[in-house]
Amino acid sequence: MMQSSISFLLDGKAVTLDFQNQSGPRPTTTVLNYLRGLPTHKGVKEGCAEGDCGACTVVLGELGPQGTMNYKSVDSCLVFLPMIHGKQLVTVEDLKDSKGKPHPVQETMVETDGSQCGFCTPGFVMSLFSLYKSVDKPSRDQIDDALTGNLCRCTGYRPIIEAAARSCVHQGRDHFSDYLPQTVVLLRAIPNESIQIQTSDQKYFRPLALTEALSLKRQHPDALVMGGATDIALRVTKKHELLTTVIDISAIEELRRVVESPSMLTIGAGVALSNVLSVARKDFPALYDMLSVFGSQQIRNLATLGGNLGTASPIGDTLPVLIAYNAKVLVQSLLGRREIPIDEYFIGYRKTARKPDELITAIAIPKLKDGSLVKSYKVSKRKDLDISTVSAGFRLERDGGTTVKSIKLAYGGMAERPKRATNVEESLIGKSWSRENVESAMKLVEKDFQPISDARSSAEFRKIAAGNLLIKFWSETEESRK
Ligand code: FES
Ligand code: FES
Repeated sequence: MMQSSISFLLDGKAVTLDFQNQSGPRPTTTVLNYLRGLPTHKGVKEGCAEGDCGACTVVLGELGPQGTMNYKSVDSCLVFLPMIHGKQLVTVEDLKDSKGKPHPVQETMVETDGSQCGFCTPGFVMSLFSLYKSVDKPSRDQIDDALTGNLCRCTGYRPIIEAAARSCVHQGRDHFSDYLPQTVVLLRAIPNESIQIQTSDQKYFRPLALTEALSLKRQHPDALVMGGATDIALRVTKKHELLTTVIDISAIEELRRVVESPSMLTIGAGVALSNVLSVARKDFPALYDMLSVFGSQQIRNLATLGGNLGTASPIGDTLPVLIAYNAKVLVQSLLGRREIPIDEYFIGYRKTARKPDELITAIAIPKLKDGSLVKSYKVSKRKDLDISTVSAGFRLERDGGTTVKSIKLAYGGMAERPKRATNVEESLIGKSWSRENVESAMKLVEKDFQPISDARSSAEFRKIAAGNLLIKFWSETEESRK
């Protein structure tokens, strides 16, 4: 079955949009612009329109197993309307209860003086609401992480952090939990079907099955394929491009699975990075560390590993660490599946070994069995919510003693693609893993890379930082032996 309209819950009611009205929203209208166009939802604010400020934060409620709901904060400036089909859209206007009593997160924001000019406040309140619904008695780290994606210029963060600590103590109970059964009934009444929207100048496909997506890719080889849209949305909000054909793979359940075996973790291309973060914690600490400083929670709730690999940006944060872990990119077309070792995947500036009719379906990451150590590093002007200047994923295997048996040094931000420092690697293999040897190998960074100077840093800085990261790696690996 196929449908051409979308439905979602807003203010406790189902809303249907069919996109055929010339003066109505487009399929690539962002949720932010849709809400701002309504007379009743001006609470959501536009700051940057690129995922950097959190003023537009809303919460999406999705049906979980056995009639539960999962609430996730997202930047509404990065979400196209069809992406919220079948979900509950919660805005700051919805937080008060039926008697007009503010939500606990709003009450504590008032008590702690958590707002001055108020421009950022609805976004902060929505991030606090998402935290309230997902973590009871959050730690300071969890609070900081929940607020990383929200910027405030005038209040300062202390009272907002205090509001979070004081309010998130009711095990998520509120009027949303009281109305849970009704919400579930309303959401289940929305048909879960593939969506095909065709207007006079746009085609937007949101298939439910992978085979359907593969057929669409074959029929529309130039279509933009998107998962979380955190990158593609900027083409609309910043460059004002008209995206003529979009294949939105965010509803394909098959791509949202994580499969773990004793030797491998296979992560579906559509798994949100916030979920990847949780599953990586045990066996892939270097991936976990990198994801901890990837964007913000609002972005990680949308972005996917498939998206990072699909755009193949030379500064994609997860790419060097996936190289260090010897990941494999699983791709599929109507003709079959194949695995591409990540070392063979990046072939040029935003060019990959994926063929035009193939989609990335999953990323398989082998567990470390050989005593290797893997670490990741990100150099950026700010720790959180920043684009990396240089990033790295390093892997070291020693023989029983101090000799380097194998080493992989993958960098982002140093070339037109994520790339290994092969000259540095070769100079270290078979040598003692000593500071002296590492320092002399560092000099070969010049041979491996000719980085560019740009707004983030000079080429010189990048070369020095790349070498210094290697020394940092050496000192951390030595530390772990003590
Ligand atoms: Fe700044 Fe959306 S408007 S994150
Ligand atoms: Fe003014 Fe936060 S209260 S920007």
